[in-house]
Amino acid sequence: MASDSAAPATSGAASAAPPALSIRDLRKTYDTGVQALKGVSLEVAPGDFYALLGPNGAGKSTLIGIVSSLVNKSSGEVRVFGVDIARERGAAMRLLGLVPQELNFNMFEKPRDILVNYAGFYGIPRREALARADEELARAHLSDKADSMSRTLSGGMKRRLMIARAMMTRPRLLILDEPTAGVDIEIRRGMWRTLRAINAAGTTIILTTHYLEEAENLCRNLAIIDHGTIVEHGPMRELLAKLDVEGFLFDVDAPLPATLPRIEGAALVARDPHTLELEMPRAMDLNRVFAALDAAAIRVHSMRTKSNRLEELFVRLTGDGATAAAASGERAA
Ligand SMILES: Nc1ncnc2c1ncn2[C@@H]1O[C@H](COP(=O)(O)OP(=O)(O)OP(=O)(O)O)[C@@H](O)[C@H]1O
Ligand SMILES: [Mg+2]
Repeated sequence: MASDSAAPATSGAASAAPPALSIRDLRKTYDTGVQALKGVSLEVAPGDFYALLGPNGAGKSTLIGIVSSLVNKSSGEVRVFGVDIARERGAAMRLLGLVPQELNFNMFEKPRDILVNYAGFYGIPRREALARADEELARAHLSDKADSMSRTLSGGMKRRLMIARAMMTRPRLLILDEPTAGVDIEIRRGMWRTLRAINAAGTTIILTTHYLEEAENLCRNLAIIDHGTIVEHGPMRELLAKLDVEGFLFDVDAPLPATLPRIEGAALVARDPHTLELEMPRAMDLNRVFAALDAAAIRVHSMRTKSNRLEELFVRLTGDGATAAAASGERAA
């Protein structure tokens, strides 16, 4: 499932290079008294594709707002490629590009003009801006729409235009706040292609998302944030391995033996006289389970997967899942 994360391996060799983003004990209390960030620390390596995953109100936009100087922090430190955003704001801002969640370009302008004008705002000469616009339009698969009224672009095209615009300043770090919120899977896939191409060309990417599937498809590393705190972080693969539990239901012949076979590393319980429920690590071989059932003379007629693994993982990670996990029966600790 996570097979096509196209991002290049983190340059372990360049350990002397500062992180693309380094956040230390970041706190934010809004005037209303809401503590949106309660001491967040994280580090994103140059070249990484990093997801900030979390439910509504977790603090994702607050964090991104602080990094991109739209929101004032209460305390803590933020560095972009080693540059402290509080001390050298201009220098830090030149290193990053931001794609906000809402479409905020002029619908009555043409994509090429939107890109060139944006570059002009950042002092990029027109000739250079025109050349970059061609490149970015091509990368966003918008070349044939360069001179159409933006209003006539599809929803997915509009979103790719937002990405192309942010790339006009050649940011070393591209930050996207829920780039695919509320868009259908086809549009999302088109955006993923564009983002992978940008990352493969060397730009570090951080995005926030509600979709674990998105993080799993795109990102090499992630942090899960909830109620203003990082609850889990690390390589996507490790996280999935650690939490990756698959559930199955077996329809079996009654009566079941008095004691069920023990299968090491897995949890087998009888839900009712005809149904066994199994939870096991995804890496585990189901044949072991069948062999154990066979040895106990339990006949399986059919099996079903129990529920969406990804959704369950996300629910469990964000705390509200504690009860769901308990309710779903015994599980290996
Ligand atoms: N300008 C603001 N003033 C007061 N409180 C705010 C402000 N912006 C955000 N908050 C509060 O801070 C908390 C974190 O909000 P934030 O927007 O950072 O979350 P989020 O993870 O981006 O959520 P979502 O997924 O819904 O976009 C929430 O409780 C929110 O209500
Ligand atoms: Mg948000």
